[in-house]
Amino acid sequence: MTEHHDESPSTLQRWEERSREIDHELLHHPGSFRMLTGDRPTGNLHIGHYFGSLLNRVRLQNLGVETMLVIADYQVITDRDGVGPIKERVYSLLADYLAAGLDPSKTVIFTHSAIPALNQLLLPFLSLITEPELKRNPTVKTELEDTNGRPMSGLMLTYPVHQAADILFGKANLVPVGKDQLPHIEVTRLIARRFDERYGRAQADRPVFPLADALLNTTANAAMILGTDGTKMSKSKGNVIELGMTADETAKMLKKAVTDSDRHITFDPVGRPEVANLLTIAGLCLGRDQADLAQEIGDGGAGALKRLTTDALNDYLAPHRAKRAELAADPAYLQQVLADGNTRANQIAEATLVEVRQAMQMLY
Ligand code: TRP
Repeated sequence: MTEHHDESPSTLQRWEERSREIDHELLHHPGSFRMLTGDRPTGNLHIGHYFGSLLNRVRLQNLGVETMLVIADYQVITDRDGVGPIKERVYSLLADYLAAGLDPSKTVIFTHSAIPALNQLLLPFLSLITEPELKRNPTVKTELEDTNGRPMSGLMLTYPVHQAADILFGKANLVPVGKDQLPHIEVTRLIARRFDERYGRAQADRPVFPLADALLNTTANAAMILGTDGTKMSKSKGNVIELGMTADETAKMLKKAVTDSDRHITFDPVGRPEVANLLTIAGLCLGRDQADLAQEIGDGGAGALKRLTTDALNDYLAPHRAKRAELAADPAYLQQVLADGNTRANQIAEATLVEVRQAMQMLY
């Protein structure tokens, strides 16, 4: 990849192509990948996260890919004055991870703030990137726009470099993310390359850091889920179905979902995005084609569509929700899982930091 952070279609296309190649390689050589990805603990996970990323993480873990997950608590304070109910959110995230099938005996789950050696990587990494390069990161720009032009914090400006440290501390070469995160993967590759050029190697034959690849979700349906009003999901819009909601709360959310006045149900994502969205949710839960479902509902109208979607989603999520509730009732277990994950992440980060200091001739 180049050093440009533009979002030109060709860049996106190249990543999509690479993702399809990797999808194929994963089936044959899962052991040659180390994956890292994660989430900011800013709220509860919802069905978009579930279909768009959790299921895929579980699949990769179970294929035998070495897996690491960062609960990115330091990223919460890029654009906020405080941390909010962070502890609660961290454990809620962890409960959803485990309920979805992420297995702490296979996957290292950790929080930023508990891994000093990871954070120390930020210092040499910051020396490898310039101010204009930081300022033209499109993700940083978008997030800045979302904060209504409020001046950005130094952490906001540099968080893509911190994210590079998340990826590189464990020498991950595979990062499953949405396309908004692609500029960060480019920064990560740039830093890995520049570190090698400027500071050299701990071992002469290979760079300290690999060049990581993004893995985009190439299954279109999962990426297509919208909020219950047919627009992008956002907690502040109240259009999100959280994994931890009860069946009743889910039914209520879907009851007030926006549809249109045409009683005849068809699958038309462009012309009827709200109706199509409900069909997609039902289709993912039932493993059925949206157009077939639409045909079955026919003239049943929005009422029948909503009933179908509600039942499909509640049935589908019932085991996840049961497991989640069981985990939430055992905070000591969740604490232990996180403590173990942090211990393991610290070991990995410390070993990498030794290599970094050795390459920089700072191992005294
Ligand atoms: N920035 C990511 C998000 O907002 C979360 C994240 C933090 C992440 N560190 C990461 C994703 C490292 C992939 C790799 O969704």
